[in-house]
Amino acid sequence: MIRFILNDEPIATDLPPGMVMLDFVRYKKNLTGTKIGCREGDCGACTVLVGELLNDELHYQSMTSCLLPLGNAHGKHIVTIEGLNLPGMLNPVQQAMADEGATQCGFCTPGFVVSLAGFCLQHGVPDNEKAIAAIDGNICRCTGYKSIERAAAKVTEVMKERGGESPVEFVTRRGILPAYFNGIKDKLVELLAAERMRLLPDLAAMQQRPHVLGGGTDLYVQQHDEMTYAAIHFLYDHPELTAIRREGNRCIIGSAVTVSDMLASPVINDIFPLFKQYARLVSSTPIRNMATLAGNFVNASPIGDFTIFFLALDAQLLLVRTANGVEQKRTVALRQFYKGYKQLDKHPDEHIEEISFAIPSANARFNFEKVSKRTHLDIASVNSAMLLEINGDTILSASLSAGGVGPVPMYLAKTSAFLTGKKINEETIGGAITLLQTEVSPISDARGSKEYKALLLGQLVRAHLMAAD
Ligand SMILES: Cc1cc2nc3c(=O)[nH]c(=O)nc-3n(C[C@H](O)[C@H](O)[C@H](O)COP(=O)(O)OP(=O)(O)OC[C@H]3O[C@@H](n4cnc5c(N)ncnc54)[C@H](O)[C@@H]3O)c2cc1C
Ligand code: FES
Ligand code: FES
Repeated sequence: MIRFILNDEPIATDLPPGMVMLDFVRYKKNLTGTKIGCREGDCGACTVLVGELLNDELHYQSMTSCLLPLGNAHGKHIVTIEGLNLPGMLNPVQQAMADEGATQCGFCTPGFVVSLAGFCLQHGVPDNEKAIAAIDGNICRCTGYKSIERAAAKVTEVMKERGGESPVEFVTRRGILPAYFNGIKDKLVELLAAERMRLLPDLAAMQQRPHVLGGGTDLYVQQHDEMTYAAIHFLYDHPELTAIRREGNRCIIGSAVTVSDMLASPVINDIFPLFKQYARLVSSTPIRNMATLAGNFVNASPIGDFTIFFLALDAQLLLVRTANGVEQKRTVALRQFYKGYKQLDKHPDEHIEEISFAIPSANARFNFEKVSKRTHLDIASVNSAMLLEINGDTILSASLSAGGVGPVPMYLAKTSAFLTGKKINEETIGGAITLLQTEVSPISDARGSKEYKALLLGQLVRAHLMAAD
């Protein structure tokens, strides 16, 4: 049985754990304020907030309910647009949208209001940049964004008065969100204690299930109907798989860590000072809140952003399966994981437990580049990462990866070897660009012609070497 709180109502349901929240709220609870747009995570019309207890604190994140299975909502607080309404009046977020003329047909409006309410519930110091970032996964087709940005700025002004008060205390005291939010923390504590969860503790039993699921942002786009009734091996909330830690000179990342978890991690931000800049190029806030690292690797897209990122770092994958009651583990280098288009060195019963890599030294330079048709919320035409160990202007070692230029995410071994021992100058850059063309085999598609992609990769390699100089 799946249990969670929907707005202020406790839910206990035997419906399939693979059913998405969007269908549950609309067709089982008749909460039709949550809209169906694309059903692929792109438009944000179906956005809900997902509240979770972390270290005894309530944290809310926006997610697209079209890709959120009930199984990943277990033990959490789900908030739809109806759960944000104040009795007999607009809440200040809704009022700001109305005052600024930020709604016309209104189809996208519930999604924007939910995302901005998520901004109001964020920990940390509120500012306008964060308010705009909170709505980066919401698309409006008829109003235009300037009025929506003005509404976001108004909401920010209200939130700046929060000071040191907790977000939930402030928004309920100021009548921004309904008073029931105050009781949610205690209700979740009770629910979790009663259920003795964080859901699905028996990983071994789950391994017999054919569909391994992380955040669902790939599987629910590809196989929506099949997933509703599938036997699912849920990994998203498993506590063993959601931590990021340092061990000596290695960094270990649980396979169910999301892009947002990495963004919030002091360990990751310490190792990659530009991580926020890189992550902003990946999908949108609600998708980053759901998308796991292992899901990105196993998805096996030739342009998976974090696949390319971790290929340059020579990441190692710890794969686990239970056969005849015996747990078996093995390590595979990410560079050896891809055997052909969407073909992996992975047994169907195996799941990735963790990902590890050697932390680059103080002399190392790491850079990630992505070019897509739109800067945000778009997949790459070509992406690339490079790790260099440098002494003065001499390259001691180089690791170069590239996506969108072959059938699999690629580690460019020849170009990496060529760069080793060279000085960073125009001759080296020119030589590397000429050589890498022999390693890649881009094809022409909707994201660009093969000639364009080959040229683009050369420019990205130039950008890596210039950033390191
Ligand atoms: C709107 C939208 C925008 C996107 N933008 C980007 C983008 O900019 N860049 C990008 O790279 N991707 C993007 N994606 C793709 C997707 O979000 C990522 O690939 C994401 O990391 C997938 O992770 P997930 O946990 O959601 O995967 P899931 O859908 O849960 O799973 C994906 C695959 O991985 C397998 N899997 C998951 N976890 C494990 C595990 N631990 N062990 C073994 N197998 C596992 C599943 O069985 C499945 O085959 C986007 C997707 C959407 C919907
Ligand atoms: S319906 Fe478009 S993101 Fe869910
Ligand atoms: S108001 Fe019509 S899509 Fe935004």
